[in-house]
Amino acid sequence: MSLKVLGISASPRADGNSDLLLKQALAGAQSANAQTEYVRLADLNIAPCVECNACYKTGKCRVDDDYQLISAKMLEADRLIFATPVFFMTVCAQAKLLIDRCQCLWAHKYVLKKPLVETAGRDRRAMAIAVGGSKSKKMFDSIRMTMKYYFDVLDMHYTANLFVNKMEDPAQIKKHPTAMKEALRLGAELIIAPKPPEKTIDVELT
Ligand SMILES: Cc1cc2nc3c(=O)[nH]c(=O)nc-3n(C[C@H](O)[C@H](O)[C@H](O)COP(=O)(O)O)c2cc1C
Repeated sequence: MSLKVLGISASPRADGNSDLLLKQALAGAQSANAQTEYVRLADLNIAPCVECNACYKTGKCRVDDDYQLISAKMLEADRLIFATPVFFMTVCAQAKLLIDRCQCLWAHKYVLKKPLVETAGRDRRAMAIAVGGSKSKKMFDSIRMTMKYYFDVLDMHYTANLFVNKMEDPAQIKKHPTAMKEALRLGAELIIAPKPPEKTIDVELT
């Protein structure tokens, strides 16, 4: 059975820098015989978490929108590749909407103290892709922290980062000397590696 890889693209720019890297990472996973699915958050309708805390009793989000659909996909996947641009030093709004709605999974695990049945005993791994326009690399600190808690709530091992700075124009990433190759390589590695690395693999490119 081939592994299922879900690619989530958070950028509002279709074929923008992070989106292109994600597609390349998915191609890498495919080259290693994984089954891939690509989802663009800009195509979905995901409302913000309103902290109603209904999930503290049920472990589920009571808001019936596209979060329900993508939540099922995230829980089913063997691998997740999450791509975001850096907006104001952190993930973009589309990414944050989805991540905040995962509060119901957090409540399920840590308030109700029930394991997620869908993920129990599985080897699930996740990789983050982020692209920023400035030369600063500090912006990736906040991405790292948010991804750590997001992947943790999904019971996914935080396997790798691909971070690229100094990319502003759409599709500028195609001209980067190594970024697209690294995305392909890391996407394949996410499937091929027999076990997750002890330490998150960090690829930061300028
Ligand atoms: C609202 C907004 C906020 C941004 N904030 C930052 C920032 O804090 N740091 C940075 O380096 N680039 C920032 N950028 C630039 C984007 O990260 C950059 O253009 C990136 O290549 C976008 O990735 P994408 O093509 O995948 O959407 C910002 C752009 C926008 C539109």
